[in-house]
Amino acid sequence: MPRGRTVVLGACGGIALYKAASLIGRFRELGATVHVIMTDAATKFVSPLTFQTLSGNPVHTDLFATPPLWNVEHVALAERADLGVVAPATANIIGKVASGVADDFLSTTLLAMSCPVLFVPSMNANMYAHPAVKRNLGILSDYGYEVMTPDTGRLASGLIGPGRYPETDRILAVCLRLLGPGDFAGMKVVVSAGPTREFFDPVRFVSNPSTGRMGFALAAEARRRGAEVVLVAGPTDLKPPEEVTTIRVTTVGEMRDRILSEAESARVVVMAAAPADWLPATRAAQKMKKAEFPSLSLELVPAPDILAELGQRQLGPALQGAGGPVLVGFAAETQELLANAKAKLKAKNVDLMVANQVATVADQMAAETDSGFGTETNRVTLLARDGSIEELPLLSKSEVARAVFDRIARLVGGGDEGHAGVGRP
Ligand code: CTP
Repeated sequence: MPRGRTVVLGACGGIALYKAASLIGRFRELGATVHVIMTDAATKFVSPLTFQTLSGNPVHTDLFATPPLWNVEHVALAERADLGVVAPATANIIGKVASGVADDFLSTTLLAMSCPVLFVPSMNANMYAHPAVKRNLGILSDYGYEVMTPDTGRLASGLIGPGRYPETDRILAVCLRLLGPGDFAGMKVVVSAGPTREFFDPVRFVSNPSTGRMGFALAAEARRRGAEVVLVAGPTDLKPPEEVTTIRVTTVGEMRDRILSEAESARVVVMAAAPADWLPATRAAQKMKKAEFPSLSLELVPAPDILAELGQRQLGPALQGAGGPVLVGFAAETQELLANAKAKLKAKNVDLMVANQVATVADQMAAETDSGFGTETNRVTLLARDGSIEELPLLSKSEVARAVFDRIARLVGGGDEGHAGVGRP
């Protein structure tokens, strides 16, 4: 279950800190990605380098260490996490989170997390018995945090009592329960990403500036939520997400064939790619020579519209009433965003359209864009078949991916109006 999931370990300054090292190892063996945040006190017990080496990721310690990033870094980590584990959890961090204090990297991240968070208290028996600590642990439970009961035994102080850091296996079992199977477990999700290339001679092609980042973020998100993911990607420089079957294609024709066949067994198809709309009518077998073509006009003919074809297929007799996959499209627009996106939703017969303002070439040249092709962030509006419209603020592409799958989850779960093919004319 942890395969492909992200665990954020909050390590605090307690004598049991070295034991948290084995938890990192166990998570990594199970295929999870682990990020460690250490409090200031924790760094006095164990060097961050130890946790960096064990987790394979940089350790976060100081909220203000990288001034240009600090504001987003703790939020980004909180957003990415499928599980937070505070181990060992000292009386200090327990008190801070119980009272909403956010004065360092760990406490700030914990307050920003919406995933399950487990606290593993470990401290001296008298501290554990203190009414303030008891009250704070009660508050954490009331807030929905998972709080483990420490083991009882000989403590570092020599006292015998409750407060001992539990065995790694015991902590891991709770973590696995909290991670759960994911809301897309057992479902196949097909995602397309990137541009296509339509060659008119062996070395020249028609394409667009899509980088594939949005589609890759969507594929990673679906995987994190437990889906079996097939990513059909046009040419991009991006590394395929972990645990995702990535099929590389070049042309819109190849993309169409792969998606149509993968869609047969899919529960969700998300077309985040920017496939070509037109293709060169002919393709020269050899490189075209300038001398032969002092000027050149290209004739372009319509390319297959993959999403429209999927939408059409939902209306076919074979699927009527049986329900095909939930279909999600992206509407890239430079103007009249909502009107154009609504028209595409209807025309292509899809369940959800993610309307995406893309910059004009002039804006891109002036680097005045924070949304669309090639950017780190995206500003989108979600339009569903039932007419509902949800406008999202400027978000990172992985946050957009999360919001899109939150919306798809409602369509898949039947919590909304049903989806493609079901009860349609
Ligand atoms: N799409 C597709 N096949 C194509 C072109 C687009 O499946 N040949 C999909 C995209 O992946 C996207 C949706 O259709 O999910 C809308 O793409 P977009 O480029 O915004 O719209 P187009 O249908 O191409 O219309 P236009 O270019 O006229 O805006």
